[in-house]
Amino acid sequence: MGKAEASERVRNEWLRRVDAEYRSTAAAATMALWLVQIAASPDLVRAALRIAREELEHATLSHLVYVAAGGSGGLELDRSALEMPRTAGEPVENDVARLCVDMFCMGETVAVRLFGELRRRCDVPVARRALDRILRDEVGHREFGWTLLGWLLESPPYGARVRALVEGELDASLDRIRALYGMAPGATPEALPRDDARWGLMPAARYADLLRTAFERDYVPRFARLGIQTRLARPPVRG
Ligand SMILES: [Fe+2]
Ligand SMILES: [Fe+2]
Repeated sequence: MGKAEASERVRNEWLRRVDAEYRSTAAAATMALWLVQIAASPDLVRAALRIAREELEHATLSHLVYVAAGGSGGLELDRSALEMPRTAGEPVENDVARLCVDMFCMGETVAVRLFGELRRRCDVPVARRALDRILRDEVGHREFGWTLLGWLLESPPYGARVRALVEGELDASLDRIRALYGMAPGATPEALPRDDARWGLMPAARYADLLRTAFERDYVPRFARLGIQTRLARPPVRG
């Protein structure tokens, strides 16, 4: 097979991934700080710190792909997206629960499926190396999220309050992730040039398909195992 040409779309997408990995770094670093503040077990704090380091590594690897694809120039990060604001007047554990559900339970769980799929057709060495590493780490990040959520729900001082909070806000979290992955009605499938797939891209519609799979196979059973029943069983909107 010949050399895969890097398109403008490839450069844009890998630059967007650098940005997203910086956001994941900020989320994990913030999580580590908040876990210290609620006196979580050292194991959980160490895990969050390790994840922050891994996310930074993902940003570095993604940037290498961007450069190999012909990209250049400095990063312009959206600083507001790198802030994980505290909710005024609420205890830290409420925000720990929110960040845990949104970024780790939901975000990292669907990320494992997305990166697995992106990696399948990717054979440009620099991109493949990045996706190999990212996929391996995301599995650990997913498990961290579900372990932390289980721990929060069982923590005597605030477990019951966190459970009520998660149950009350879960639908809104699910709507946020649906919007993020284009599950809104009318999202159209889009064909992708073969070389783009070799650089580790996939059509937008596949993101929605994989999120649907994550809803059914991951979110519903994993939340149920933690005793969280919501309108989760409601089928997601078809794109
Ligand atoms: Fe990452
Ligand atoms: Fe991650």
